[in-house]
Amino acid sequence: MNEIKKIWRARKWMKSNEPFLYAWHAHVGYVHDLFDEFEHGATVRDVAKNRGMNELLLTRWAEVGVAIGHLKKEKDGTIRSKKNMVESMSKSSDQDVGVLLKEMMELHIPILLSYSDLLIGDDYASYKDDDYAGTVAATSSFIERFAFPKVYQWLQKVDAKSVVDFGAGYAGYLSRIGAKEENMRLVGIEKNRQVCLDAESHIPYRLKSSIDLYPEDMMSWKWDGERFDVAMMNNLLYYFAPDERSHLFQKASEVTNDHGSLIIISPLHESDHGHAFSAAFNSFMSAHSNLHQLPTSTEMIEMAARAGFGLKHMKPIVKEGAWYCLTFQKAS
Ligand SMILES: C[S@@+](CC[C@H](N)C(=O)[O-])C[C@H]1O[C@@H](n2cnc3c(N)ncnc32)[C@H](O)[C@@H]1O
Repeated sequence: MNEIKKIWRARKWMKSNEPFLYAWHAHVGYVHDLFDEFEHGATVRDVAKNRGMNELLLTRWAEVGVAIGHLKKEKDGTIRSKKNMVESMSKSSDQDVGVLLKEMMELHIPILLSYSDLLIGDDYASYKDDDYAGTVAATSSFIERFAFPKVYQWLQKVDAKSVVDFGAGYAGYLSRIGAKEENMRLVGIEKNRQVCLDAESHIPYRLKSSIDLYPEDMMSWKWDGERFDVAMMNNLLYYFAPDERSHLFQKASEVTNDHGSLIIISPLHESDHGHAFSAAFNSFMSAHSNLHQLPTSTEMIEMAARAGFGLKHMKPIVKEGAWYCLTFQKAS
């Protein structure tokens, strides 16, 4: 009886790992454009030859794809990608979400796999900003679609005419604001030079002249004295150690008008929702020497208060990810 129980447990753990196959298979296909290669049906041999790939390993990848339903094997032996895989994992598709797998498989999973070594060592991993800033800026923008209505609602409420975005990434929020409000003054501060350059291709052509994106580090940014109605810092706080964060709040206070506001979109630690996700995200962050724990709402409310902002709203945006939008305003 005990032996059966043990085998049953082993089976349960084996099965719990099965979903990993889907992400692994999609990630390999995304990175090497394999769903495009097989879009109209092709033999593994031809694709391996054309792309200079290892035919045996490509055969194995295709077998997994057929088994889990990402690919279909035709009667003549050719392999064809399922339509939804081409849509979601082809870099040329406007429905492409492969960058999310890139972040997960190349950043998060390797760190979680090295966790047991990190746990007993003295060192932390180092987040390589130059390699992944673009990936992270792109994945953050998935939250935009859900967060923007809350941001825009607040901008309308306070009749905002100018916004500065700290850590603006590809200037997604500024672009969405610009698309709705023609005469808004829109400024972004983004530390990563390459992200700033790449933002050019993300900002819609007609908005290019209305968004000023500066390649500056928030820690050394020399403010020229311009005052804004609203400051934003979205998905930024975990780049700063807890004792550095107050600098950002002070900066937001300094650059905003007397009744100015601060909007923060961030995953939260110890919030009411999404504990599994935020705990895993936090493990990933804390495993790095140059990334830091997720903020808690209490921490933000206290820091904002010290900078003169009072909390107005705190609403979940993506509950399973513990993502919230917090809005603060200076006391009248
Ligand atoms: C996770 S992305 C978020 C982008 C955007 N705010 C969003 O929510 O979609 C964070 C961005 O902040 C930038 N960043 C990190 N530290 C910064 C700093 N000290 N000064 C300015 N930007 C910074 C990163 O390069 C990155 O593009």
